[in-house]
Amino acid sequence: MGRTAVTLSGWELDNPVIPASGTFGYGREFAAIYDINCLGTFSFKGTTRQPRFGNPTPRIAECPAGLINSVGLQNPGVDHVLAVELPQMAAYFHKKVIANVGGFSVEDYVEACRRLSQSEQVGLLEVNISCPNVEHGGMSFGVTPEAAGEVTRAVKAVSAKPVYVKLSPNVTDIVSIARACEEAGADGLSLINTLLGMRVDPRTRRPVIANRMGGYSGKGIFPVALRMVYQVYEAVSIPIIGMGGVSTAEDVIEMMLAGAAAVQVGTANLVDPLVCKNIVDDLPQVMDKYGIKELNDIIGGAHHG
Ligand code: SIN
Repeated sequence: MGRTAVTLSGWELDNPVIPASGTFGYGREFAAIYDINCLGTFSFKGTTRQPRFGNPTPRIAECPAGLINSVGLQNPGVDHVLAVELPQMAAYFHKKVIANVGGFSVEDYVEACRRLSQSEQVGLLEVNISCPNVEHGGMSFGVTPEAAGEVTRAVKAVSAKPVYVKLSPNVTDIVSIARACEEAGADGLSLINTLLGMRVDPRTRRPVIANRMGGYSGKGIFPVALRMVYQVYEAVSIPIIGMGGVSTAEDVIEMMLAGAAAVQVGTANLVDPLVCKNIVDDLPQVMDKYGIKELNDIIGGAHHG
């Protein structure tokens, strides 16, 4: 049987399968239906410096190949996460986790990252500069190399853990943003976040989502995500966590061949709560099918001919 372990900035994961932030909460509901310690790790819901109620409802619009969300970074804030969520999580998840962090100013990111990085349960920080659902923050930091570099540099200066920056696909040139983050000291990159989209209800003739637009995710975005991972892999030498429309072990292999060192699974968790367990279970036989003995060896394989 092949070896599924992968490494992110010195942190060895048993396998590359990571539920994505915002689709897995703090893991509690999933731990009630399977032992989530089979996962590589997971990325918990984006945490901001202050608690946030999120956007008005409706926040979700279904699409044939995925969904659009405009949650608006709803979360209980960094104090609550450190005092309540992480201690509770320790009872059912015995590995380190990824702390996804959102913000509305550089100071917000710095403060939340500084504090979360001090938790022994946090393996790395995933700095979300790509949320399309909030004004004056979120994605606005991820659409220019200058702003992306500024946040990365500031967060790196205060973080005791590796800093991975989560990039937006809603840009003309994701490679220039990726390079700016690497130059500013990022230890790795996560990509892609959701694609800005919308739906209109023909009966009401109004946008389905109260905030009008939101982030499109799910199976339909897989080829776009794969293309961006492929392009960014050629431009940087830090690890990439690939995500976007992944729902099978075959998708994981494809993402890793494009350049991902580990792979997040997002919207598929909302379709089938067992999807990540099934991917972990399926990986060894899919590796056998393609003659893969060591998963680490295939990272970026599509570039090497
Ligand atoms: C949200 O909370 O609006 C989703 C987070 C994101 O898209 O980054």
